[in-house]
Amino acid sequence: MKYFGKVDLNITKELKRNLKIPIVHSGDVFNYLDAEEVFKKTNCNGIMFGRGAIGNPWIFLDTKKYIFNGEIPQKVSLEEKIKVIIEHIEILYSIYGENYTIKQMKIHIPKYLKGYPKITMLNKLLNGVKSINELKYFLYNFRKL
Ligand SMILES: Cc1cc2nc3c(=O)[nH]c(=O)nc-3n(C[C@H](O)[C@H](O)[C@H](O)COP(=O)(O)O)c2cc1C
Repeated sequence: MKYFGKVDLNITKELKRNLKIPIVHSGDVFNYLDAEEVFKKTNCNGIMFGRGAIGNPWIFLDTKKYIFNGEIPQKVSLEEKIKVIIEHIEILYSIYGENYTIKQMKIHIPKYLKGYPKITMLNKLLNGVKSINELKYFLYNFRKL
């Protein structure tokens, strides 16, 4: 559907009802509550996260804990987010090098830090970033921007 409209859970439900193979649902699952709804409404065997995981890699463990143990996920602290962004940078850098990492992180960082007032300032700064060190400097000093 190219992200137009809302996912039709009846399709997943019908597939599950009519096929004997495991059915994994994909589409419009943005948090653990969406996941619960999809499991309940479709009886599917698994769920994939697409856009919901961008800037929120915690979505997998949060959902697992909620679905299997009924644990309500805690809000991720800014410090934890920065730590994971740095890890994300290091992994990208080790595979793709500096330029591509900077280009990609300009897309991902605003997703990770959505909702923090300082993100507007960081976005402006990100436009001019030329090195990984500079990128990290802005992240470590995010609160002071
Ligand atoms: C960054 C990104 C890359 C994707 N790449 C592919 C791909 O290579 N092949 C594919 O079939 N679908 C791809 N998709 C589509 C997803 O697998 C998924 O079907 C779609 O995003 C709907 O799930 P969502 O609502 O959870 O995002 C991609 C989606 C995203 C967000």
